[in-house]
Amino acid sequence: MYGVVLAAGRGTRMRPLTDRRPKPLLPVGDRSLLEQVFDTAVDVVDEFVVVTGYRGDAIRESIGESYRDRPVTYVEQEEAKGTAHAIAQAAPVVDDDFLVLNGDVVVDASLPRVLANADGPAVAATEVIDPRAYGVLSTAADGSLTKIVEKPANPPTNLANVGCYAFTPEVFEYIDRTPESERGEYEITTTIELLLDDGHRIDVAPYVGTWLDVGRPWELLEANELALTELGSDEAIAGTVEKGVHLHGSVVVEDGALVRSGAYIEGPVLIREGAEVGPNAYLRGSTVIGPDAHVGHGVEVKNSVLMADASVGHLSYVGDSVLGRGVNFGAGTNVANLRHDDTTVRMTVKGDRVDTGRRKLGAIVGDGAKTGINTSLNAGFRLGTEATTKPGETVLRDRISE
Ligand code: TTP
Repeated sequence: MYGVVLAAGRGTRMRPLTDRRPKPLLPVGDRSLLEQVFDTAVDVVDEFVVVTGYRGDAIRESIGESYRDRPVTYVEQEEAKGTAHAIAQAAPVVDDDFLVLNGDVVVDASLPRVLANADGPAVAATEVIDPRAYGVLSTAADGSLTKIVEKPANPPTNLANVGCYAFTPEVFEYIDRTPESERGEYEITTTIELLLDDGHRIDVAPYVGTWLDVGRPWELLEANELALTELGSDEAIAGTVEKGVHLHGSVVVEDGALVRSGAYIEGPVLIREGAEVGPNAYLRGSTVIGPDAHVGHGVEVKNSVLMADASVGHLSYVGDSVLGRGVNFGAGTNVANLRHDDTTVRMTVKGDRVDTGRRKLGAIVGDGAKTGINTSLNAGFRLGTEATTKPGETVLRDRISE
């Protein structure tokens, strides 16, 4: 069985974190989103086929030619013209049954398993309380699919389309005949309608488990929180931890990392290879200090992701935030992560103000950004790639070019 993984999206909603990398390579816990998707499917998939587009070169370089002994091939979708169009790119490589998975969706290993166990084509479905924002599935008495309706005002069932499928190679003929949708894309749900019209049986594979579409920056924090729940309950210390460090809960210190005296760490916290923490730093869950990143004296970091080479050197607070690669926070940089009116934090996504649903959300900072000393960053704002702030500045709006 092949696993076709869709990874050609531009990831615009995730900006600035996707300015220099494709979304599937964003880090969650100790791996990328894409590696996490591979991990969920590796037990049922013999060969992965990754559909790449935006920064496909980075995906090839990061994953290489195999993943946990499964060969990985790459096909290119030159323009993101829709899911059916993306799957069509895999046709020259795929000559057997296959699963379709998304390179930016967090699910459990049971999802690929239920799809692989279906007898022929299948669509994964999960029950949700309010399905109006999803593709909603209707089923016949025997449990097979009869219809998919996108975002219906009056949903016929509570079964949401997870967006993962099992197909036989026959689907490629139907993809060739798939017309453009109203959104101007070639969508696999339209192809499925064609299969149904032709009398093909499509199973609805019931799925109960995590389903997190990682499209916007705070969803990366959620994916990271989930990934860190799997750190386990014990400490795993391969790096150097000096005397006088307090570790509580699950704390992993990878080989080559250094935690200096006086650090107080409440897991889940993952300190990656080459990272340096302390002296006298306070790390709280769920936090990842990325490879070669640095958190210095008198710095508190809570529920955040610091990517590789990021540095928060002195006397700072970072909460519910994502710091891109090579970010440098000047001494006394503080992030607000809670509003005084106690309403949920909003963020701008593709030009629209969006309620994140989170009471606590800090700053999203693009690669290479630098703050001057005593910078204050307000809750829910973005600093673009290579952006800078002046000493003493208070950032009350996004500093990013759309
Ligand atoms: P989307 O979330 O619709 O798009 P995106 O990832 O580019 O994000 P944004 O809207 O922020 O720009 O895509 C869903 C998944 O399908 C994702 O894994 C990318 C993949 N995809 C393709 O590979 N090719 C395509 O043509 C489309 C539309 C999506």
